[in-house]
Amino acid sequence: MWLLLMVLIPLLGLALAVYFYSGHGNFSKEMLRGKRVLVTGASSGIGEQMAYHLARMGAHVLLTAWTDTKLEQVMEKCLDLGAASARYMSGSMENTAFAEEVVKEAENTWGGLDMLILNHIGQTFYDFFNGDVAHVRKLMEINFLSYVAMTAAALPMLEESKGSIVVVSSVSGKVASPFVAPYSASKFALEGFFSSLRHEFIIKNINVSITLCILGYINTESAVRAVSHAVKLKPAPKEECALEIIRSGVLRQRELHYPASTVTTTLLLRNLAPRLLDSLIRSSIQLENIKRPPPPQGSGH
Ligand SMILES: NC(=O)c1ccc[n+]([C@@H]2O[C@H](COP(=O)([O-])OP(=O)(O)OC[C@H]3O[C@@H](n4cnc5c(N)ncnc54)[C@H](OP(=O)(O)O)[C@@H]3O)[C@@H](O)[C@H]2O)c1
Ligand SMILES: *[C@@H]1O[C@H](CO)[C@@H](O)[C@H](O)[C@H]1NC(C)=O
Ligand SMILES: *[C@@H]1O[C@H](CO)[C@@H](O)[C@H](O)[C@H]1NC(C)=O
Repeated sequence: MWLLLMVLIPLLGLALAVYFYSGHGNFSKEMLRGKRVLVTGASSGIGEQMAYHLARMGAHVLLTAWTDTKLEQVMEKCLDLGAASARYMSGSMENTAFAEEVVKEAENTWGGLDMLILNHIGQTFYDFFNGDVAHVRKLMEINFLSYVAMTAAALPMLEESKGSIVVVSSVSGKVASPFVAPYSASKFALEGFFSSLRHEFIIKNINVSITLCILGYINTESAVRAVSHAVKLKPAPKEECALEIIRSGVLRQRELHYPASTVTTTLLLRNLAPRLLDSLIRSSIQLENIKRPPPPQGSGH
């Protein structure tokens, strides 16, 4: 029975993935030429790759991340690759005022905005939740609240341009797995907030698309560093992932699942066989490689 399910569900997942991604019109790189795009978390990983794709497509890019050394190099490379223009701004998204300043910068330089790509995340640990509430608060600020603040600040410009909001989330924002509780919470929050907002835009006739990107394991340096000792899956390529995110945003898709068949299959299983999915998730992790937290102090052990 399970065996049958294990064959049928991936097939169904694949069929649904094909269904979801066909019929949305055709993507062409020309669609981004001259567009004004703000990318957060653009100094490394998927955000960096998005900046390069956008540059090759001839977009104007405003890049932001925490530290400026890497960001400046990414900006230079964008100019070499053919960006219509490129600039950057560094600062911490833990601070809502900075999030708003970045949007202000787009307004001051371009007088408008076509696409807002929200992608940055604060540093996460792949480990048992150790009771550190301050860390959860900090991640909610960086991974969630700053997304809300940037959206609020950018909305007038996006309404005017009939633009797009692209929210980079994760399978961990749809299905929980162990060792990522604070991160997972911040990603679940994104889905709730932006899905509610999508309704309101439709009710108010606001033509701004919201694309939620549900990503599986991608081969960025930080992700590989965080989980490769415990997760033996092969990560998907960040370059292709970055392109798929841009494509889904410009085609105004509701959701992107990347890599498509793995993510869609996981989401199907979540509804059909949640306990099975939970046990599959736990068995895919090499638990012996996760260090157990020390016993609480004063417990006498
Ligand atoms: N890689 C995966 O396996 C995977 C899987 C699912 C979802 N995703 C999602 O994909 C997105 C990108 O992931 P990634 O792996 O490419 O990440 P990454 O390489 O670690 O990049 C994170 C980016 O966020 C910036 N950042 C960190 N702390 C910040 C802060 N306090 N304020 C402002 N910016 C800050 C970093 O800038 P600095 O370099 O200056 O610190 C960097 O540009 C994230 O939303 C992530 O949740 C990734
Ligand atoms: C997309 O392109 C294909 C072939 O290039 C064409 O047959 C199809 O009609 C196009 N679809 C849309 C929606 O434009
Ligand atoms: C919303 O804007 C997009 C992009 O400009 C356009 O293609 C689409 O037809 C618009 N939709 C509505 C309902 O006006």
